[in-house]
Amino acid sequence: MIDTDDIPSNPTTNPHLADMVSARVSRRTLIAGAAGTTVVGFLAGGTGDSALAAALSATGGNRPGSGPLLGFVEVPVSDADTIVVPEGYVAHALIPWGTPLVGGLDWKPDATNTSAEQALQVGFNHDGMHYFPLWWGWRGNRRGLLVLNHEYTDANQIYSAAQGSAITPDDAGREKVAKALAAHGVTVVEVQQQRDGTWTHVTGSRYNRRVTGTTPMNFSGPVGADHPLLQSAITPSPIGTLNNCAHGYTPWGTYLACEENWNGYFGTADPAWTPTPQQARYGVSATGFRYNWHVADPRFDIAQNPNEIHRFGWVVEIDPFRPDTTPVKRTALGRIKHESATFTLGSGGRAVVYTGDDENGDYLYKYVSARAWWSYRWVGKSPLDDGTLHVAAFDGAGNGTWLPLVHGTGPLTAENGWVDQADVLIRTREAADALGATRLHRPEWVTVNERNKDVYVTLTNGSGNGAPVNSNRDPNPYGHIVRIREAGADNTATTFTWDIYVIGGDPAYDPNVPADQPLFGSPDGVWADADGRIWIQTDVSNSSQNLATRGYDNIKNNQMLVGDPDTGEIRRFLTGPRGCEITGVITTPDQRTMFVNVQHPGESTTFWNTPSAPSTSNPTAVSTWPEGPGAARPRPATVVIRKLDGGKIGT
Ligand code: FEO
Ligand code: CA
Ligand code: CA
Ligand code: CA
Repeated sequence: MIDTDDIPSNPTTNPHLADMVSARVSRRTLIAGAAGTTVVGFLAGGTGDSALAAALSATGGNRPGSGPLLGFVEVPVSDADTIVVPEGYVAHALIPWGTPLVGGLDWKPDATNTSAEQALQVGFNHDGMHYFPLWWGWRGNRRGLLVLNHEYTDANQIYSAAQGSAITPDDAGREKVAKALAAHGVTVVEVQQQRDGTWTHVTGSRYNRRVTGTTPMNFSGPVGADHPLLQSAITPSPIGTLNNCAHGYTPWGTYLACEENWNGYFGTADPAWTPTPQQARYGVSATGFRYNWHVADPRFDIAQNPNEIHRFGWVVEIDPFRPDTTPVKRTALGRIKHESATFTLGSGGRAVVYTGDDENGDYLYKYVSARAWWSYRWVGKSPLDDGTLHVAAFDGAGNGTWLPLVHGTGPLTAENGWVDQADVLIRTREAADALGATRLHRPEWVTVNERNKDVYVTLTNGSGNGAPVNSNRDPNPYGHIVRIREAGADNTATTFTWDIYVIGGDPAYDPNVPADQPLFGSPDGVWADADGRIWIQTDVSNSSQNLATRGYDNIKNNQMLVGDPDTGEIRRFLTGPRGCEITGVITTPDQRTMFVNVQHPGESTTFWNTPSAPSTSNPTAVSTWPEGPGAARPRPATVVIRKLDGGKIGT
């Protein structure tokens, strides 16, 4: 069992952030926080956290008119097969995989729902998520649209015992590929709060919608659907979105679904096929991630249908309020393995989107629109179609530069083989290689603290990629969170300073980890709420979770923590069931209801696979969450969290 994100496909010797981090952590400034925990201050420019805190308090602080950001008693680490939240909070599961979105359809616990039924049911492996209020004012906190990604499917869970997990080259195999495709993508579902405070979904709402691996797609920006590299005889028009991991949302009310590990769905049995340099740079291989869809569906055979891959790796914009609209792949944001697409506004009202390319040794990107976002919307255009994509270069002194990926500039010239801007975007990774971007330890989510415009980037874990191994954080099994401060606190800036917000880990295995910090590792989801709380979600891979041999026995199940960036304190807020990751977090606008996703509970997990590993005939080997003991199978689901006294989540 391997974590496919850990396999690097970056052949360059571009500088690696790990070298710089080790140099800077070794001379970090530790500032005692309110609870004695530590943060690493901004060294560059002399702007420490204490200076930031003083500046914020002089202007009313991070929390006008309220008490401390964190007010709950931390929960301990857990290996229980359940969700644990702090005393005074309540949590319940909502919209588990397979929940019918229309009337007259039943969830079948033995996994015998067909592909056609799955296309009308909530998808599998909930991930990035946003809440769009359906009403103005306070009622928007009671009724809204939950929009969430479904990253991938687990063949041990989505097929019945009679079907088995293998993909065969026949009608049965085609039905199984169709069901997997229907369980991917995005769900839009109306949710509402009941008089007793609990939340339910609205079956049959006119907004309920599934976008799947076969939904028609439009292309916009420099790469059109008519581009020669996007033509396919097998699927004449572009369809589908896959491996939608984290997400973004825009001020004009749309949702951004990101396409991450799309390469893993493609493969071939053709012994004559070998990857081109471009295919290899994106990790495309004959085996893929062993989904074996190509066995039953030539759309996913890389030898037979080589251009299909160029339709993936994009950011997809979906309008949840208009179920009849076609999703649009916004190509100006680049073609990578997008983890998230985090929107913020920069000077002049320009649209800024941060997005990480989650692979060991890959890069962090930022898109900036050419003009104010609203100037495009007024004339029926998109701010996401006309701008400049940049890639980050970090130096060892705590400074950084955003390098533009623009055809004709720097090395991206016709003489060097770059045809035009569409070519630069289709081959974004290679263009960034040429610019000398800084290789990172798997950039996952990005969030912007709108209180001060600081940018937080989770680097979940990674290893050297050929960089000199000069610290015990390279390899970096526990990951860390980098904080970026753009010049002038303007997110359109082309220079920045950076430092480390927190390093994950267990001091029993790594003395660099502060002993008074909660045990956690492999940060993935990160979200700054409206008050500036930094929510951190973990995705320790199932080959490491709970295992002493991987230094993860004390950290136990995946979890969610929350930090106060002014004091540096971090507390553990939630622990998840067995085999899951915690990903996706959003609140209602009043911050009184929080939605959090539990992805892949009960997935094959080395630590829990004894005495038996999950299979289609034994799906509950690792977990029975959320139904609990006696359940037919575990199900990814959204967890709704409320504070019993009606207060803000986190206080
Ligand atoms: Fe889908 Fe990068 O985790
Ligand atoms: Ca992720
Ligand atoms: Ca992850
Ligand atoms: Ca994951």
